[in-house]
Amino acid sequence: MPVTRIPPVPSSEITPRDVWMNRRTLLAGAAGTIAASSLPGTAWAAPVIEPLSAPRNPAFAPSDQPTDKKLATTYNNYYEFGTGKADPARNAHTLKVRPWTVEIVGEVAKPRTVGIEDLLKMAMEERVYRFRCVEAWSMVVPWVGFEFNKLAALVEPTSRAKYVRFTTAARPDEMEGLRASRAALDWPYTEGLRIDEAMHPLTMLTLGMYGETLPNQNGAPVRIVVPWKYGYKSAKSLVRIEFLEKQPVSSWTKAAMHEYGFYSNVNPEVDHPRWSQSRERLLPGLFASRKTEMFNGYAEQVASLYAGMDLKANH
Ligand code: MTE
Repeated sequence: MPVTRIPPVPSSEITPRDVWMNRRTLLAGAAGTIAASSLPGTAWAAPVIEPLSAPRNPAFAPSDQPTDKKLATTYNNYYEFGTGKADPARNAHTLKVRPWTVEIVGEVAKPRTVGIEDLLKMAMEERVYRFRCVEAWSMVVPWVGFEFNKLAALVEPTSRAKYVRFTTAARPDEMEGLRASRAALDWPYTEGLRIDEAMHPLTMLTLGMYGETLPNQNGAPVRIVVPWKYGYKSAKSLVRIEFLEKQPVSSWTKAAMHEYGFYSNVNPEVDHPRWSQSRERLLPGLFASRKTEMFNGYAEQVASLYAGMDLKANH
């Protein structure tokens, strides 16, 4: 069901200026790191950061300590807010994350639109996952969410559902990267998984990190996290999930087909055409100091999904 969007009305038109100026300052204060002067002319809703704690699942506890929260929330890739690592933390406060709905459609018996409040009510757990970016850096993050297959169960995928496409928000009014003169990617950002990858218990629909709801720059209000694949498969700020018969083409594959394959499994033996994937830099480390692990360390759980496949051809 398509959602009607109401264009933002500048607060200056509906509120006396002194009240409005005061509100901007309050909002900036609530946002924590955002200085009032950096807010645009419109009084944007502040990012929604609320406690979101859930019991930690002890089965997912890598030997590494979680990355410092400040680093994980200020060194980001979210091209809708700019291509620099510091851009998302600086610019993503303009994304309005309430109200929010996710449409789940395609090869399913019961298509539906789910509101963010309902997603937040689903049983959550915390899992500490290794997260490996294609750019050869990695982090260790305590994510809060639930297995994607629980969401899929609500819509009952049919036997024709072989793939899942994830589409993320594309709102030029709220995303300055979409207003840039040269598009970094073909918006909206889309990613895809094979159905068995999507339904695998490791694949997490994620609503929080470090015991709080997701900051906008990390994909608020809801994203996917697929820990054995390069980070770009983990699409942020989801608005649409489609179950498909045919393999979808992702934004990164469209941008550079020979560099970003459909599978994108972390694989130290298959280099990116422009750099090696054999080692990685665990942030905040300065050098590529440790060996990349096959499937990012999750081989025991996921290697069987690719039995008999040529992982170089299907990179
Ligand atoms: N999702 C959207 N919508 N837009 C993006 O640019 N970047 C991807 C992924 N999801 C991206 C996205 C990439 S390249 C990475 S490495 C991860 O988000 C980064 O997630 P993090 O900032 O939470 O570490």
